[in-house]
Amino acid sequence: MPQYFSETGSVEAVNARMGEDASPRLAQVMASLVGHLHAFIKDVQLTQEEWACAIDFLTRTGQLCSEQRQEFILLSDTLGVSMLVDAINNRRPSGATENTVLGPFHVAGAPRREMGANISADGKGESCLFEGRVLDPDGKPIQGARLDVWSDNADGYYDVQQPGAQPRWNNRGIFETGADGCYRFRGIKPVSYPIPHDGPVGKMLAALGRHPYRPAHMHFIVTAPGFQTVVTHTFVGDDPYIASDAVFGVKDALVAPFQKVSDGETLWRSPFDFVLVPVSP
Ligand code: BEZ
Ligand code: FE
Repeated sequence: MPQYFSETGSVEAVNARMGEDASPRLAQVMASLVGHLHAFIKDVQLTQEEWACAIDFLTRTGQLCSEQRQEFILLSDTLGVSMLVDAINNRRPSGATENTVLGPFHVAGAPRREMGANISADGKGESCLFEGRVLDPDGKPIQGARLDVWSDNADGYYDVQQPGAQPRWNNRGIFETGADGCYRFRGIKPVSYPIPHDGPVGKMLAALGRHPYRPAHMHFIVTAPGFQTVVTHTFVGDDPYIASDAVFGVKDALVAPFQKVSDGETLWRSPFDFVLVPVSP
């Protein structure tokens, strides 16, 4: 008897078509995806109109994607999928610095800067000294660690969102640690900002009664030979959006001190140490 499609046997009907030549991993992933997708549709008893609305939403999401805009990653971010995939793939021992979302505003090839340099080039915002050490799990300094750092400006925009209006490489730079494992640079105390919300993802958030804001943060990618790369941020703890980040990126251990300085060359100081885990042999 051929296995025709039926409401009750829908999953089996589709998965029975899997070819012998499909790779075992693809077969596993797709069979599970079909199972969960059909279960979801049955659970909510999806209507024809809702199905058409979903197709339209996904179509518009794809149509907005370009070299400059990745609306599907934004969708993944706002549904907690990016953070979940990251959590599954970057489990680390306690004490090691945790990852969070990369976000769309990292730009490769930022200028290498001298330790202590100022990354803020537009003269806006409240100056802040970021400093600390890059350590291994035993607390030994890591020499030759690279910190690729970036933040928004005081108006809540990254330089790439305002080409022409902000100096190139504003609030970005790459620093390399010496034998003491220390890093130090000046920037601004970051401010909270909305993720791009003029597209389908923004409409989805509005329909769900969710705001599009991220709490203020400084981005870091920390790399060192022989160690796992850390893609993370440090967060400003008293930010009004700290408990409701639109992309679920906040973790307790990533909330950094931001201390008012009375007698320094910056208004604020944010100390934070990074602990990197060796790559397994
Ligand atoms: C960011 O922090 O730059 C970011 C992360 C996820 C989505 C949008 C922006
Ligand atoms: Fe950001």
